[in-house]
Amino acid sequence: MPSLNGASFPYIDTLKVLEKFGPGALFYGHGSTSDLDDLESRCKQGERFLALFCEFPGNPLLRSPDLDRIRSLADRYDFAVVVDETIGNFLNVNVLPLADIVVSSLTKVFSGDSNVMGGR
Ligand SMILES: Cc1ncc(COP(=O)(O)O)c(C=O)c1O
Repeated sequence: MPSLNGASFPYIDTLKVLEKFGPGALFYGHGSTSDLDDLESRCKQGERFLALFCEFPGNPLLRSPDLDRIRSLADRYDFAVVVDETIGNFLNVNVLPLADIVVSSLTKVFSGDSNVMGGR
């Protein structure tokens, strides 16, 4: 079962890791309504996915995918929702009620001055 990556442009390392290791990934670069329509139609036809990874909001375009719709698709078709909230940060954006896993860049939590590396 591949993972889904996208529903807003994902951090590049997340995409590369998912593409190179494991069962593969389906990449949606925009997180648009038509991307989610495509996902829903694949699920209806029986395709299954392990997880959907997305940024909320996305970096650098600041587009925000429809997390309510993603949550309801995840509940219906049984995949995990992993949200990277680095740009908004948990002080400003509460994605916990809609995500199964929330990730954030340690580098950016530690410092916004490019003088620290948290690293994955
Ligand atoms: C949106 C986003 N997620 C994750 C990361 C990875 O962060 P770190 O290497 O600090 O864990 C970055 C780093 O630039 C990022 O911009």
